[in-house]
Amino acid sequence: AEGDAAKGEKVFRKCAACHAVGEGAKNKVGPQLNGLIDRPAATVEGYKYSKAMKAKGEEGLVWSEDNLHAYLTKPKDFVPKTKMAFAGLRKEADIDNIIAYLKQYQ
Ligand code: HEM
Repeated sequence: AEGDAAKGEKVFRKCAACHAVGEGAKNKVGPQLNGLIDRPAATVEGYKYSKAMKAKGEEGLVWSEDNLHAYLTKPKDFVPKTKMAFAGLRKEADIDNIIAYLKQYQ
């Protein structure tokens, strides 16, 4: 479903300890998330990904909306051994809203 970017901004607080997005966003614990939608996995310059995430990128994983849904629902199921220490979002609407929020930074 189509998300609500304003609601997504609030949900993004759960990500913001580790991720920056927007003008001048830098890598933190996690990579910066500008231009995320349809970006190949593990391709942000200067960020040191886990072997698991690099392998997914090499296999051709792209952050389509569907793949983001799956990853953000249960990161460790979608990318086993990812170093992203985040359990996931249980509410489908939260994920739709985060994607709508991130789409503002393509
Ligand atoms: C990786 C999104 C929460 C730490 C990623 C990637 C995405 C993402 C899309 C892959 C990026 C790429 O391939 O360039 C999000 C979103 C979050 C969230 C939307 C909130 C819902 C967190 C939190 C942490 C974190 C809370 C820290 C506790 C990381 C790390 C990676 C990563 C360390 C690199 C993973 C690896 O190399 O295996 N995140 N994240 N993220 N994230 Fe998050």
